[in-house]
Amino acid sequence: MAKNLDYANIGFAYHKTDKRYISYWKEGAWDAGCLSEDSNVVLNESAGILQYCQQVFEGLKAYRWKDGSIVCFRPDMNAERMFHSAEFLEMPGFPRDRFLEALDETVKANVDWVPPFGSGATLYIRPYEFASGIVIGVKPADEYTFRIFTTPVGPYFKGGAVPIALMISDFDRAAPHGTGAIKAGLNYAMSLHSHEIAVEKGFTENLYLDAGKREFVEETGGANVLFVDEKDRLVVPKSDSILPSITRKSLIYVAEHILHIPVEERAVRLEELKSFKECGLCGTAAVISPVGKIQNHEEEICFPSGMEKPGKIMDELYRTLIAIQDGEMEAPEGWIRHI
Ligand code: PLP
Ligand code: COI
Repeated sequence: MAKNLDYANIGFAYHKTDKRYISYWKEGAWDAGCLSEDSNVVLNESAGILQYCQQVFEGLKAYRWKDGSIVCFRPDMNAERMFHSAEFLEMPGFPRDRFLEALDETVKANVDWVPPFGSGATLYIRPYEFASGIVIGVKPADEYTFRIFTTPVGPYFKGGAVPIALMISDFDRAAPHGTGAIKAGLNYAMSLHSHEIAVEKGFTENLYLDAGKREFVEETGGANVLFVDEKDRLVVPKSDSILPSITRKSLIYVAEHILHIPVEERAVRLEELKSFKECGLCGTAAVISPVGKIQNHEEEICFPSGMEKPGKIMDELYRTLIAIQDGEMEAPEGWIRHI
């Protein structure tokens, strides 16, 4: 039975749930792993994560279907991305098959925290790995911790499907040939200062430009960006320094194979934005959040879809994705993992 929470107003926040999964890597191997009721982490003052930020994470969700069953959406892709992120930061990757087993175990142990079907809320799952071994010289640690916790969440942005306003940041999120394409906490630390500036100025998020030339649009602090052009094509920015979003990959498939919307994946110039009809952010937390306008210094770029409701194509993509995740529409092969 799902807990009796105020799901309509739950927001995107942390709630302590019953159990979390923990596995330690010591002397070159991962231990068997176990569930724990302890939500605190105790570390040495010189742990690698505290000194040199060796940490990677993932974000995915568990959904309760109408028949009461519980599923996850494409978790094999989170397992793969996390393995790659870890290797990029010289951390041992957590084996993909064990990631999926640990995920099942953690969700099952917190089954009452999976929000009811139709509540608009889901169980957000946060796998993460960090250097728990001691280092003082700059080098990789020799001990690591992998954990998964869960928390029930509502929409990431207040108001759910109400369009938001973005600001072009004067700061960069990720360097060319840097860490932009991996999911490491350090990328998010880099975005906090500019996030606070954007919020102070009345915007919900920043849109970052490519750090090399500052001519192309990249993504926001926690989601990829999508556009619809004047020919009703879905335009998807391509760059080596943005996170390869699982939601974005899924939406490209939905657009091409289910909705028959042409897709262009390519570098997108900031200059082009004023010719686009619609804009939206996509990600596990963001799902698809419509964007009504983008402030580029003195210039206000207003999308014809406006600030009242999502554009037509963003709305179709949103409805299709949600229907697949909620079990209301048949999913492409391999997208759904029954827990
Ligand atoms: N970009 C960033 C910076 C993110 O933090 C996220 C969230 O995970 C995404 C994009 C979307 O990725 P995904 O759809 O895999 O959740
Ligand atoms: C996600 O969508 O899972 C994210 O990680 C975005 C943000 C909450 C960091």
